[in-house]
Amino acid sequence: MRISVIGCGYLGAVHAACMAKLGHEVIGIDVDEQKIGALSEARSPFFEPGLDQLLKNVQETGRLSFTLDMAEAEGSGVHFICVGTPQKYGENGADLSHVNAAMEALLPYVRPDDIIVGKSTVPVGTAARLSIILAEHEPRAHLVWNPEFLREGHAVKDTLSPDRLVYGVADGSDDHAAVSVLDEVYAAPLSSGTPRLVTDLPTAELVKAAANSFLATKISFINAMAEVCEAAGADVTRLADAIGMDDRIGRKFLNAGIGFGGGCLPKDIRAFMARAGELGADQALTFLREVDAINMRRRTRVVELTRELCGGSLLGQHITVLGAAFKPESDDVRDSPALSIAAQLQLQGAVVTVTDPKALKNAAKRFPELRYEPDLDSAIGGADALLLLTEWQQYRELDPFDVSSGVAGLRILDGRNVLDADKWRAAGWHYRGLGRP
Ligand code: UDX
Repeated sequence: MRISVIGCGYLGAVHAACMAKLGHEVIGIDVDEQKIGALSEARSPFFEPGLDQLLKNVQETGRLSFTLDMAEAEGSGVHFICVGTPQKYGENGADLSHVNAAMEALLPYVRPDDIIVGKSTVPVGTAARLSIILAEHEPRAHLVWNPEFLREGHAVKDTLSPDRLVYGVADGSDDHAAVSVLDEVYAAPLSSGTPRLVTDLPTAELVKAAANSFLATKISFINAMAEVCEAAGADVTRLADAIGMDDRIGRKFLNAGIGFGGGCLPKDIRAFMARAGELGADQALTFLREVDAINMRRRTRVVELTRELCGGSLLGQHITVLGAAFKPESDDVRDSPALSIAAQLQLQGAVVTVTDPKALKNAAKRFPELRYEPDLDSAIGGADALLLLTEWQQYRELDPFDVSSGVAGLRILDGRNVLDADKWRAAGWHYRGLGRP
């Protein structure tokens, strides 16, 4: 099939490459010259494991190309909208300007029977609104919503073998013309057993908002338990192990620590609350305000714990922050709790050095006032305290004896509860976890 993918960021670039991998002829379109320049040379504009190699492989087949010119979307039977929907400046709601602009730019090239497939995370009701715009322009084309559930760091695998496919179509029926077209697009994962659900448009939009809200709630639940554990002298990691053995609860997403960040969960729960308010259903989601508040409280708690760890004052303390990305295997620093904590510590008088294997360039753009050191040994050298805030494998594997020789003080705060506390203590370190005695 010939497919266009509009928006080539974290979602669209991976989607375009994966669709070509599945055998389709794909044109990726974006307004950002740098992105298109890099992608055209089979270079990913961001770090995503496996993406560079995949881009190279599929571009060699001739099935994938990139352009700035929307006119090249013409002739594709399927157009995926993959642009970003960031949080509006100073408001909770989602900024839909990129979705609206993509749609407007695409309309002149839409032919009868084409389908436009929204993948971006949007407030419920957006698809219905865009359907009306499409119908005015080309009544024989269809608009469907097919939310994306990929996780950064696992995006290629999540796209090639998703755990489910959701198609939102106007009448919610399996017989809708767009269903068989999408079945053809996703023929490979469907034939490997990926379940697919056909829903109406608002349900498909809500599936994504609900899934991310549930994940955020799970993380904040365990972080709330961490607060109670701290007060009671209990260990939240053992508590999570124990409740996670109940398969109605499950152990995944129960890792207490510095909380969630990234380009999705924080802004998606806020946009969901804002939209529910517009619909008169705000009471239903007031709990998400608490989820958000618990999450943000983790950051303040880490600053306080670091102060305690440093003997009561942060002034002039040399603190090394291990990890800047919002999670490992990513260079994404959007709403990264690690960076937000690093900046807070610096504001309160500490001398902060941040290291990360992939995210320093992006981090420096966001917080130019922090000191960045790519070399781990140099970053650690002379530190009064270490803070492990993003659980990259190389930080999980640090040996407390090896690290001891370079630092000024044997103090470590494990913001992700991934280190062996006994081992670090046995090596003479003052170890603090979150929600652990
Ligand atoms: C998320 C959803 O998982 C994905 O389905 C959706 O499509 C986009 O949003 P992503 O933002 O890539 O994906 O990251 P995710 O792996 O969900 O992690 C989000 C944040 O939660 C990270 O900051 C991570 O460190 C944190 N987290 C995750 C925890 O603090 N504890 C956990 O147990 C799990």
